[in-house]
Formats: sequence, C-alpha cells, structure tokens
Amino acid sequence: MKAVKIKENVYWVGAIDWNVRNFHGYLTQRGTTYNAYLIIDEKVTLIDAVKPNLTNQLIERISDIIDSRKIDIVVSNHTEMDHSGGIPKIMELNPNAELIATANGVKGLNAHYKQNWNFKIVETGSKISIGKHTLQFITTPMVHWPDNMVCYIPEEKILFSNDAFGQHLASSERFDDEYPVDIIMEEARKYYANIVLPYYKPVKKVLDDLKGVDIEIIATSHGIIWRNNVGKIIEEYKKWSSGEVTKKAIIIYDSMWNSTEKMAYALSSAFETKGYFPVICNLQHHHMSDIMTEILSAEYICVGSPTLNNNMMPAVAGFLTYLKGLSPRDRKAVAFGSYGWGGQSIAQIESNLTESGLQVVKSFRAKYIPSDEDLKKITEDLVAIL
Ligand code: FEO
Repeated sequence: MKAVKIKENVYWVGAIDWNVRNFHGYLTQRGTTYNAYLIIDEKVTLIDAVKPNLTNQLIERISDIIDSRKIDIVVSNHTEMDHSGGIPKIMELNPNAELIATANGVKGLNAHYKQNWNFKIVETGSKISIGKHTLQFITTPMVHWPDNMVCYIPEEKILFSNDAFGQHLASSERFDDEYPVDIIMEEARKYYANIVLPYYKPVKKVLDDLKGVDIEIIATSHGIIWRNNVGKIIEEYKKWSSGEVTKKAIIIYDSMWNSTEKMAYALSSAFETKGYFPVICNLQHHHMSDIMTEILSAEYICVGSPTLNNNMMPAVAGFLTYLKGLSPRDRKAVAFGSYGWGGQSIAQIESNLTESGLQVVKSFRAKYIPSDEDLKKITEDLVAIL
C-alpha cells in the first residue's frame, strides 16, 4: 500500500475502510477513512493513527516512505479508537517515541491502553520544533471528545483538524479537487449533523481560534483532504454551528395501518400551503442518520406514531433517543399520531421533543382512521399557526 504525498515531506499514511456501514448507529453508506499523516524531518513525526483492525494499512503506508521503526514523535489529536487504535503498534515499534496529547488525551490514552509511554502534554499555544517544521497546537475540547486538539504546521499552512471538517467517505482520491465536491460536502453535512451538532458552542470557539490562521490545507482525520474548498467548508461550519434554518419542514413517522401516515401527508399539505418545503420520512424506509442531515436546516420537526401497547412504535422511540442526544436547538416541533383507545404515544412524543430542546407548537391526534374531514381540519389547523 502506498503513501500519498500531501506536500514536500508530508504524506497521508491512513487506512481506507471500504466496507464499514455502521458507525455507532450512523449509516456510513460510502464507508470511511482514518487519516494519519507522516512528516519527514529531523524528528520523524506521525500525526494520528487508524482504527485498530486497519493498523496493517498504516504500517504498510509508512513503510512506503520510511522504516516504521524510525518515528520520533507521535501526535494523538484524539483518543477515540478510530484514531488511536494503531498507536500501541506504533509505540511497540518505536518505544522511545514521544507521544504528544492534551492532558485529557493522556488520561484517555492511559485509560484505553494502560502503557507507560513517553507522554508530553500540550495545550493551546504549545509549539514543538521537529526540524524545518513547527507543530503548533490548539485544544478543541468536545469537538469531538474532551481530549481533542488540532495541530497546525505554519511552514506548510496545513491544519491537521482531526474529526472537525471530516466526512465518512471511502475513496482512493485524497483531495477535494479529485472527487465530486457535491458528494464531499453532502457527507461533511451528514457528519456534522450526526457527530458535531451537539457541540455547536465548542465549534464556534474553534472557528474563532482559527481566525487569522493562514490555512492552505485542512487535513481531516476522515475522508477527503480540503485544499480547493478550505474557505467554503469553514463557511459551512459557521452556518451549521449558527443553527441557521430554512423554510423546510421534516415529517418523521412510523405507521401501523396508514392512519398516522395519512396525518403526515395532511401536515405536509399545510406546509406546502404556507410556502415551506416539506420532507416526508417513514422510519421504515429512511435511516435516522440521513434524517438528521435533513434536520440540520429544518425550521419544523414533526414526529408521529400510533400507539402500540401503550407506547410509541419502537422505530419512533429509537429515533427520538437519537434526536435527544444530538439536541438540535431553536426549532419548532409538532407531535402527531393515531390511536385506538389509550393514545399515549402522542404525549410521549411531545415529552421527548421538549427534552430535545424543541418547542412543541401543536399536537394532533386521530382516533382509529382519520376521515377526509379530519385530515382537512389537521391541515387547516396547522396552516393557521404557520
Ligand atoms: Fe473520528 Fe471522534 O473519532
């Protein structure tokens, strides 16, 4: 396996995970990569590693450039095992290497691997010279874990951003000018909506910290490296972290005998009437991680379920749990559902939506099968408040 030159003496030596389709519940329909980078200088430096089972790819790609026992410094920007999983093997090959991380990173690496490695703790503003290049660090806690940091090399204007600005996208192409940019951006949006969304405040801080940093290349830890669209992806992160929404309404539901589904379409008619762009998602056919991508720019989130054995349908309950964790904010919500006798599902949905930080503006219930008149009234009642 080959390394890929990023700049003179800077190489991509990561791993491509072509077949992964489930990343903690996130549908990675295009697979992903775990990007690691090798810098050849007086002190040979490795930035991040890969998922444990793909460590062989990392070692082979390093060996394409240099003996894998010649590494002096390992930078661990993030402890999560998709990036640190290869570190034990690297440290076994290079027992005297210096392992650089934040204070939380060192705690995390100790908790994961329990090895007496040669740690060096860095913080925002720390600088380490490796010869012709300087490693500068900015801590980025909660983008994605408390331990996260990014590493910047001013001589090359490369930002090694770890999870930030990444995409789950497996490809042999490494750069954004080698791959359809619409697909990269779509996957970056999905990645933000499913991983970064709860951490909008830390993201804003990172974007502030990066103001004035001259960035030519953003070398992410997942997917494609940005070099032609650096400004664009930073602008998108500004937009996404601002919580900006459009006139989009997303209607999510499960249905037993199509009654709740009929209500979903009645809601959709109301949104169309008021100039919104509704999106209808039956949870039996739409993956919750794709729904989150739509939610990123939706002003309204509508969730519906019939009552099944005094509860919501399991798919709706699962989706609401996922939504609560990602907690989109400043959006309006509608709960709806059909029922036969108890009708508990609607109150349960309302409660979950409220706990997710959403403002429930209206609820709709229909007993057994909503008539055409019932559906017309749902549409009219929603139109009245939009
Ligand atoms: Fe790609 Fe938070 O690890």
